[in-house]
Amino acid sequence: MTVCVDCCGLNGLSGFTVGVEADIRSGLPGFSIVGLPDSSVKESKERVRLAALNSDIMFPDDKRIVVNLAPTGLKKEGPSYDLPIILSILAAAGAINKAMVSDTVFEGELSLDGSIRPVSGILPMALHALKSGYKRIVVPYENRNEASLAEGIEVIPIENLRQCCDYINGKCHIERYKTDIESYMKKSRSYALDFADVKGQENAKRALLIAAAGMHNIIMSGPPGSGKTMMAKRLPTIMPDMTFDESIEVTKIYSVAGLIKDSQALISDRPFRSPHHTISNVAMVGGGRIPRPGEVSLAHNGVLFLDEFPEFSRYVLEELRQPLEDSEVTISRVNGTVTYPANLMLAASMNPCPCGYYGYSDKCRCSQNLIIKYRNKISGPLLDRIDIQIEAGGLDYKSVSSDKPGESSAEMREKVKKAQLVQARRYKDEVFNYNSGLTASKIEKYCCLGADEKRLIENVFDKLGFSARSYHKILKVARTIADLEERENISRSDIAEALSLRSFDRSGE
Ligand SMILES: Nc1ncnc2c1ncn2[C@@H]1O[C@H](COP(=O)(O)OP(=O)(O)O)[C@@H](O)[C@H]1O
Ligand SMILES: [Mg+2]
Ligand SMILES: [Zn+2]
Repeated sequence: MTVCVDCCGLNGLSGFTVGVEADIRSGLPGFSIVGLPDSSVKESKERVRLAALNSDIMFPDDKRIVVNLAPTGLKKEGPSYDLPIILSILAAAGAINKAMVSDTVFEGELSLDGSIRPVSGILPMALHALKSGYKRIVVPYENRNEASLAEGIEVIPIENLRQCCDYINGKCHIERYKTDIESYMKKSRSYALDFADVKGQENAKRALLIAAAGMHNIIMSGPPGSGKTMMAKRLPTIMPDMTFDESIEVTKIYSVAGLIKDSQALISDRPFRSPHHTISNVAMVGGGRIPRPGEVSLAHNGVLFLDEFPEFSRYVLEELRQPLEDSEVTISRVNGTVTYPANLMLAASMNPCPCGYYGYSDKCRCSQNLIIKYRNKISGPLLDRIDIQIEAGGLDYKSVSSDKPGESSAEMREKVKKAQLVQARRYKDEVFNYNSGLTASKIEKYCCLGADEKRLIENVFDKLGFSARSYHKILKVARTIADLEERENISRSDIAEALSLRSFDRSGE
């Protein structure tokens, strides 16, 4: 009789139940795993055999063993199947108590010495097990905090195979593990950075405030040392706290990426990711043999900062368009696709020319051709997804030496919160939450202009030669500026300010 040991597989962030069953019979000795295992699961064979032998647990070496992973239609990836595979074999061989295996999900990678190693994706697995009605989940000891974020399922942490078998056979008791979720939520907001540290740069700070309030993507251009990186790093500090559900969503992504620290199993601070410009396409958008989320998903609910924007490979930049448009990223695979969330705010920075000083110092010797080539690295369609473009100019001596502290992150965050509340109310029946999500038809509905305001925008368009594609961005940003003041009507000054946040358009690009 075969026994089914259950575990979880993952597709993107969603789990599916996998039943592992073994058949052992006399015949030519052998060991095979069937049911669409990928090569990492096939490698299990040697691990589980040696882990059992090194733990003084019998392994039916002289028998013919077939392990099946059901349902066979879904691909099984990664090492987390080790534990259910060995348990199914031991159950079929009569070495463990079959009754204790039901109602339980088992996850864990085995070391050759029988110890159990942590696996990635435990949180989505535990949430799936909870939703599917399982009573408990047996997890690697190092994953215990993460697993117990799924409130309502019993988490049993185990350290090695021997202990796991003893637990199943009732020879030892393992206390169900609980974690203090409250303390994780309270621990948040311990940012070491503050906008008060930034001297001068009032215009850039204001632009970043507007960007955060409407979740607009932003690009800053300016010479080296003007504080672009410094300011971008402070963006998460002016965004409202994540809700518990948002935290769980982010934590699931980090869990699948294998990036959860045991000390802070729940990610409660908004993500800030700043990959280097040499990053590969897969690392940016996700993918790989065992699919992992990329930087765009690790920045979900937070900020993706791309410093030295034009230095990124053209291919990587083009791949950003889809996640920026859809707020999620879809990765094609041999059999099907994987989708990860990627609802992020993009902050990019660039120098005005390859040397960095064009327009700011006569140090610059870059030729016009070189400068145009540098700026053209960012394609029009990509720039189209960036609502706000500003120049963060060089610092003058007066503002650098001033000891007057700038506006603090806490003050700015209060303003952002207020503006976002206005948007949440206005868009409660829409699929988007922020002004950045307004599409052309929705702009007509939500960004009505008076005759005066219309005339202003018309004048400027004709005079300064703004492109038509800028028109909607200006309205969206003006909407956010009005929302910061909790005004329903967009005023002339809102439009004028929004126009000033399109600096690339004005320089004729
Ligand atoms: N506006 C500013 N206020 C205070 N310090 C600044 C400012 N701008 C630059 N700095 C200092 O210069 C350093 C380099 O700035 P950085 O943000 O890296 O410039 P950029 O990214 O524009 O090249 C910062 O770490 C900070 O110490
Ligand atoms: Mg920098
Ligand atoms: Zn230059």
